[in-house]
Order: sequence, then structure tokens, then C-alpha cells
Amino acid sequence: MRDSNHPAWSTVWDDSPLGLVASKPGSALATEVLSPALAREKLIRTLKNAYSGELGAINAYKGHQKSVSDPAEIKMIHRIEVEEIVHRERVGEILSLLGEAPSVHQEKTMGWVGKTLGILCSWSGWFAPMYGAGLLESRNIREYEEAAEYALAAGHVEFLDDLLLMAEVEWEHEQFFREKCRTHFLYSWFPKWPAPPAKETIREPFAWIEYPEGRLSHHLNAAGLTL
Ligand SMILES: [Fe+2]
Ligand SMILES: [Fe+2]
Repeated sequence: MRDSNHPAWSTVWDDSPLGLVASKPGSALATEVLSPALAREKLIRTLKNAYSGELGAINAYKGHQKSVSDPAEIKMIHRIEVEEIVHRERVGEILSLLGEAPSVHQEKTMGWVGKTLGILCSWSGWFAPMYGAGLLESRNIREYEEAAEYALAAGHVEFLDDLLLMAEVEWEHEQFFREKCRTHFLYSWFPKWPAPPAKETIREPFAWIEYPEGRLSHHLNAAGLTL
């Protein structure tokens, strides 16, 4: 339930577009809540947002890794950047398989937003980029979980594995940035975004569904990345 005393982003874990996360196997199926046509429309919109959001993240992380000096942090932020590149490639493929293309307007907007944030990383100090990244990554988890729900309702179970894997990778990103933020004294002064549930819970609502293995794990392996 929403709590009006909390900012909207603090309730991100309470909401599920189809109610699927709260449903039990064999009960309220997503397809009973949302028509396949509407679910497809929402899936496409979510994927276009995610595709351009990944571009913003890639551009921002390029600047972010230049703004830190710890070699371990540089290495991890670079790894996250590469994972976002792989996500973007796969989301683009899925959009293409659905007969759709990314939004030109969103691409321009998010590309510039990311570049601007990347430049600001050098001026804003260590904490702000870590905090902003953690907050945005927490939303990215939900974005791919929602995309998986829409894909299911639209009858595209062939995309479930990849969308859920992307949610799991975003979970790892959020954890990295949140743990980094916790080491800084400013963290106690800033509002906390809610910690996501355990990574294992991401696939739980879909455990009763038979879906094929996706292609994303092969893409990640090809890029030298394993979870
Ligand atoms: Fe991503
Ligand atoms: Fe991410």
C-alpha cells in the first residue's frame, strides 16, 4: 500500500503492474488482469524506456568511472557499464523481434542526460554519483520485472528468462552502489531508498511457468561477464 508520507520512489517495491508478484501459482493470472494486446503495448513502452535508459546509464558510467580514483571502483563501474551495453543490445533485439524500434526522441534525451550526469560526476564529489546510481538501479530492477510481467501477459514467454536475468543483474548493480554509499558519512543524512528483496525472489512469481532459456547469458559470457 502506498504511504503518502513517503516519496513515490520509496514505494517502488509495493507496486506490481499486474499484481502477479503478489499472486500465487494458479490463481490470478496476469492474462486475466490485462489483455494480451494491452500487455504488448505496455511491454513495448517499457522496453523503449529501458533501451534509452540503458544509453543514459552507459554515458553516465563513462564519466563516473573517470571521476573515482580507487582501482577497484573503476573496475566495477566499468563492468557495470559493459553489462548495461549488453542489456541495451538485447533489449534492442527484443524490440526488433516485436517489430518495433527505439524512440528517437527518448534516445536523444537520455543520451544527453547521461552525458550531462557523466560530466557532473567530476564536479559533484564521490557520494552524489554513487547515491544517484544506486537509486536509479533500484528502479531498473522493477522496470525489468514489470517488463517480464507484461511479456507473460502478452504471451511472449520466450523473453522471460532474459528480462528476469536483466533484473537480477540490476539487483547486483544496486547492491554495489548501496554498499558504497553506506561507507560515506553523508549516507546517514540522505533519504534511503528501500533495499530490494533478496535476488532469489525475482524469479519466484514466474517459477510455475515453463519458459525457454534466453540468449542474454550467452551475450554476457561472450563479453567475459558471469554472474
Ligand atoms: Fe541494465
Ligand atoms: Fe544497471
